[in-house]
Amino acid sequence: MAEKKKMSVAEILAAARAADGKGAAASPPEPKATETEESPAAPPASKPKPAAAKPAAAAGGARPSVSDILAMARANKAAGAETAAKPAAAKPAAPAAKAAAAKPAAKATEAGAAKTGVQRDTASILAAARAGAKPGPVSKADAPARPAAKPREAKPVAEKAAPPRTVATVPPKPVKPAKAAAGAAEDRRTFLQIALGSAMAVGFSALAVTGGLFSLGLARFLFPNVLAEPPSKFKVGSRDGFPSGKVETKYVAQYGVWVVNGDFQGQQQIYALKTVCTHLGCTPSWLEAEQKFKCPCHGSGFYKDGVNFEGPAPRPLERYAIRIADDGQLEIDKSKTFQEELGQWADPDSYVTV
Ligand code: FES
Repeated sequence: MAEKKKMSVAEILAAARAADGKGAAASPPEPKATETEESPAAPPASKPKPAAAKPAAAAGGARPSVSDILAMARANKAAGAETAAKPAAAKPAAPAAKAAAAKPAAKATEAGAAKTGVQRDTASILAAARAGAKPGPVSKADAPARPAAKPREAKPVAEKAAPPRTVATVPPKPVKPAKAAAGAAEDRRTFLQIALGSAMAVGFSALAVTGGLFSLGLARFLFPNVLAEPPSKFKVGSRDGFPSGKVETKYVAQYGVWVVNGDFQGQQQIYALKTVCTHLGCTPSWLEAEQKFKCPCHGSGFYKDGVNFEGPAPRPLERYAIRIADDGQLEIDKSKTFQEELGQWADPDSYVTV
């Protein structure tokens, strides 16, 4: 990781210390003189290394402080001239142990130095730091090329052990009721539905019929029938068609009139008698053989001139108005009647003289 970023002085020192620790632990107590070729200021390998000089480094214990390291560097620098003046126990880190410890660090930096073509050691770095120069390979130009990042190996995914399958126990299904009971219930339900539907249908039908009849009666009340009665005036022909003493009955059915050519009080007249019995309204019959009108209801009898002479009829038959029309025909007007008991038969409109 140290090669991937710019190394500061502290990091370089830390790397050196780590290298020292590893070198001291891995290297033999008497390093060869050839291994210190990177450090010209390193003391000769013949210099004995006190056992207590680097107790912590040898054992990988407490880390030396920066002042110690600087002192070690100064000691390395001045090793050639002052090795004898300094007490052996004062700075035990400089001699052979340092050289031995520098070996792994030098080896570690050899790869980067080989790439960049620059060899650096701790002493030179520290010297440069003291001189205020550039503190180590921090520039891009001096920095060793970063090794290519190793591709991350895909971690094999440990297959999870499948949990043991537990077989669920299914409760037994409830016993279905017998089909016969279900069918009976269905039949009962269907019967009730049909009965209820039929009752409702009958009720609605009766209501519809009642409403229809009520509407019909209301319409008949609002628009009563108009009797298509024959016109009140009608022509029966000329007087020649009615000989003397003749009672014409052919207009009874259509007009309810007898046309008679008879004698009334010594005067020959043609008159029109109403075919309604004055008793209770029955229609008498002309009896040619008996020369009378006979009511079939109660036996009332009327002469040819219409005067009652037997039975319960209280008064003579009534006459309609009659006249000779412009065309010479006899015209009968049923809108006007004449009663003998009232003396109306004397009215000229009640007869036509022959
Ligand atoms: Fe003619 Fe009674 S209705 S006699």
